Amino acid sequence: MEKIVVEGGHPLHGNVRINGSKNAALPIMAACILVNGKSRIKNVPYLTDVKTLSEILSDLGVKTKRLKDGTIELEVQDESNVTAPYEQVSTMRGSICVLGPLIGKRGEAKVAEPGGCVIGVRPVDLHIKGLEALGARIITEKGYIIGSANGLRGTEIYLGGPHGSTVTGTCNVMTAAVLAKGKTVIKCAACEPEVQDLANFLNKAGAKISGIGTSELVIEGVKELHGVEYEIIPDRIEAGTFMIAGAITGGEITLENVRLDHMTAVVEKLVESGVSVSNVGEKCFVKGNDEFRPLTITTLPYPGMPTDMQAQFAALLSIANGTSIITEKIFPNRFIHIAELNRMGADIHIEGTSAIVKGVRKLSGAQVMASDLRASACLVIAGLVAEGTTEIHRLYHLDRGYEKLEERLSALGAKISRVEV
Ligand code: EPZ
Repeated sequence: MEKIVVEGGHPLHGNVRINGSKNAALPIMAACILVNGKSRIKNVPYLTDVKTLSEILSDLGVKTKRLKDGTIELEVQDESNVTAPYEQVSTMRGSICVLGPLIGKRGEAKVAEPGGCVIGVRPVDLHIKGLEALGARIITEKGYIIGSANGLRGTEIYLGGPHGSTVTGTCNVMTAAVLAKGKTVIKCAACEPEVQDLANFLNKAGAKISGIGTSELVIEGVKELHGVEYEIIPDRIEAGTFMIAGAITGGEITLENVRLDHMTAVVEKLVESGVSVSNVGEKCFVKGNDEFRPLTITTLPYPGMPTDMQAQFAALLSIANGTSIITEKIFPNRFIHIAELNRMGADIHIEGTSAIVKGVRKLSGAQVMASDLRASACLVIAGLVAEGTTEIHRLYHLDRGYEKLEERLSALGAKISRVEV
């Protein structure tokens, strides 16, 4: 077992390169199930989620080969297995993205139900509703989603749920529809840049998808997809995490390979809190402050504030000069990190789906436990500014979504290391 040890109080300075997006890479890799021939996907981050999905894909007959420069080659070699087992799916919900491609291409799928997780219940009813509308027969049995289809047919599908659109649900229905007969219209589709990236990849491979980036996707079915070379977009959540890490320490950092046009809500709120953010091309300069203004933040589907940045903002606002309100509208229970921040001296209480954050003058180092991926990042950020030493336990979540986070923060001047417990 490992833990991260951070000594707070060292401003970050220098350059950091942002990796490719995890949540774009996962559905794009899964979509290679649909493709005839070899695809080369560039800018794929080296993460345990990517490794797990590569293993699932290998078992599904997709040969995957990682090259040295962050490129992964994928090619279907055997279509006989259609099962993604519980042991793998339960470690990463993103693997649900194989469901649509399997039904769309092989006419059959048996994928473990991902179940809930620490950030909430996380149902997949909308995925199933969309696939059934395309003509798939789906049953859930013994913890598995079992789907079969005798040729899918395009139709109009409304994919809105109680909290708006669904990201991986849209990915699954879109990937199932690209080889379906006729036209599919997905209404209330997710507009997230990662969904756009998947659609752009599919189009490059021969699909006919329009309305990309809007809430209405139109997919004209095609007979087959062919192998392509494609580069994944930069990870907007990793970029936002580094921005807050740099800002909270009062440092000055430059992010390379970043798409600020995907980060409007995050940048708006950072600037409102007193952080300076500017960009030239694909570089972005971030300068912190010694005092931050409080904020009112509500997480929403894109282009609203991403729920995946909520925990990192909670760390920043815990030392703001006043009271902030953070309302979670995507995963109403995604607040487990709050208790850990309070152990570090923050003054936050939860009221329904909101966190009321009373800014304190300083945080102090403590032993804390990471509960999910973004909560892990929140605790690292808090540790960077806390007085004394913070020890963060249970690191496997962090490694699912951030590549060598402590090494890259060290290179920026943080006093942070990973040690064996
Ligand atoms: C994706 O999860 C991301 N995961 C999550 O990132 C991210 O937090 C989330 O989108 C929201 O942006 C991947 O892309 C692999 P949703 P997903 O379906 O697709 C409800 C991270 O840290 N819903 O868009 O599972 C759902 O409960 C992770 O990188 C239904 O009701 O999220 C939620 O309230 C964590 N029925 C809302 O929709 C469904 O069938 C949005 O969830 C599906 C979802």
